[in-house]
Amino acid sequence: MSDPSDKIKARARVALRAERAFGLDALPVQMTDVEIAEVEQTPRVATVPANQAAASDLFGKPIVPKAQAHSTPLPVVAKESFTSSPLSAEEKRCALAELDEKQVKGCVKCRLHEKRTNTVFGEGDPDAKIMFIGEGPGENEDIQGRPFVGRAGELLNKMIAGMGLKREQVYIANIVKCRPPNNREPAPDEVATCTPYLEKQIEIIRPAVIVTLGRPAIQHMLQQKISITRMRGQWQSWRGIRLMPTFHPAYILRNYTEETRAAVWSDLQQVLKELGLPIPSRAKR
Ligand code: URA
Repeated sequence: MSDPSDKIKARARVALRAERAFGLDALPVQMTDVEIAEVEQTPRVATVPANQAAASDLFGKPIVPKAQAHSTPLPVVAKESFTSSPLSAEEKRCALAELDEKQVKGCVKCRLHEKRTNTVFGEGDPDAKIMFIGEGPGENEDIQGRPFVGRAGELLNKMIAGMGLKREQVYIANIVKCRPPNNREPAPDEVATCTPYLEKQIEIIRPAVIVTLGRPAIQHMLQQKISITRMRGQWQSWRGIRLMPTFHPAYILRNYTEETRAAVWSDLQQVLKELGLPIPSRAKR
């Protein structure tokens, strides 16, 4: 792809196809040649007539038996097992602010505090129905003190927008609140030390659904060694809260294929269905 205009055209093609996946409206201008080539090599999908839309996924592919299996009745799960009573939205906001100010911001309980610029507590609607949980802050998050503000964050925003929601309507947090050096995976003792903060956040917010992003997050929540490829898309339960594991946006960016994006969209659709929320019509194509 030596002609620069070919590269621009390829980028536009890739972006438009991504738009079908997540309802996007921006070009991923930083996509590398390798990422472009990877997407370009995946087979195109024919447009599906509107009257077949409900039986097709985002990419116009027929919904396969695996997806049907997801819509079969789910196993009965324990009811929320918190001892405290649920709070009002305002009480939740205050409780989260207090947890952040009084405990997280000054935390020096593990070695991750040594190199951090800022703690990254989490943000969003304290009364959110959906809580996304990632792994840990990266460089941009460490600088800004906010979760998912880098490239992976841009994609997460698009995933949320594709669900017909705004970022401010969900809550976003991580399993650890300080950046692991060089973006390495948080070590088990670091995760264990940080866990009470995340648990407290969940207990305050009491989302109806938790969406874990990537293997470390689901592995931590379920305390099991897990293959994210096998586990994603399968409902789980965390203390009685419905939990949907899906891929991490950084993984999607590294594996920007129709298959990966369709898988994530199918997971997010299940979340919308679970909450009785409409599935945006563009996404049904
Ligand atoms: N990746 C994560 O898991 N969390 C963030 O906040 C940013 C990137």
